[in-house]
Amino acid sequence: MSKKILLSGIKPTGRPHIGNYFGAMKQWLEFQTVGQYDCHFMIADYHALNFIQNSDEMRRNSLELIIDYLAIGIDPKRSVLFKQSDVSAHTELAWIFDTITTMPYLMRAHAFKDAEAKDKEISAGTFNYPILMAADILLYNTDTVPVGQDQKQHIEYARDTAQKFNNTFGETFKLPEALIIKEVAIIPGTDGQKMSKSHGNTIPLFSSRDEIVKAVMSIVTDSSGDIPMNVYNIHKLFRSETEMKTLYDNNKGKYKILKEALIEDLDLFIKPLRERREEIAKDTDTIKKILDDGANKARSIADKKLSEIKTAIGVI
Ligand code: AMP
Ligand code: TRP
Repeated sequence: MSKKILLSGIKPTGRPHIGNYFGAMKQWLEFQTVGQYDCHFMIADYHALNFIQNSDEMRRNSLELIIDYLAIGIDPKRSVLFKQSDVSAHTELAWIFDTITTMPYLMRAHAFKDAEAKDKEISAGTFNYPILMAADILLYNTDTVPVGQDQKQHIEYARDTAQKFNNTFGETFKLPEALIIKEVAIIPGTDGQKMSKSHGNTIPLFSSRDEIVKAVMSIVTDSSGDIPMNVYNIHKLFRSETEMKTLYDNNKGKYKILKEALIEDLDLFIKPLRERREEIAKDTDTIKKILDDGANKARSIADKKLSEIKTAIGVI
């Protein structure tokens, strides 16, 4: 029986944080280990181009993110690890999808509505973001897309687009499913809001000890209750419910002790990742080779699918 197909990705827009890890990347590792899926993990650099428009920064961020993937345990022998821009079928398919997508439909996207509400000037790339993402997913006949809650609507756009194409040109695409784990769908940041690179409330996944201390000390504590909920909600990622209950029951109102305990738990978790990352980062030749191999594998799947699509629309 053929394996199911899994695909996910992250934009190289800055250092990943523990929200990215617990919301999405940890699930990637679990699927890679189970072995029932053909896993594909992408660096979404063309999506990042909407935010990063500086060649040095783009190059650096992409390289850093590949190192991050490897450091958490993405294994190029078991998964296809590739950069979106290395596989031109993604942007080509996005164009094809553009022609069957209406503007009012794209105007209903949360990301577009948020940008519009803030009176931001929106690029055509930002407007079309969900269509490029639909292409990323559908080119690989993906069954499952493990992501955080904020990506739910994008997966629905991919499903709708697949359905619309199938209705117009004949059965070509599978309908993918989002995999969102309720308990970790929205990891809060140091201010209690969703942890996000753009909110300045992150705990970076590969933080130094000093950065961990600084981030934890900046967690906004609620001085009215006995339990500092913003600390608790991050802390529970690292301890069982029983352990958490004992720790927080025994230290009611003692915010400093609880924050110090969180610092230790975070450092215990991050230290080995940080050390592995330092080792991997030294060998840029191997990293380049991994990306070349990944690009070749991804291209051979995507190009085959694109030929099928081009036949369906009648350009070949
Ligand atoms: P991004 O950093 O926006 O490219 O997100 C990469 C992945 O991490 C996506 O699957 C997001 O849904 C997920 N993610 C980002 N922030 C959070 C968060 N605070 N909680 C849970 N998942 C998140
Ligand atoms: N939009 C995703 C994010 O911001 C990144 C992404 C691009 C993605 N293409 C994808 C995620 C395909 C899953 C599948 O996090």
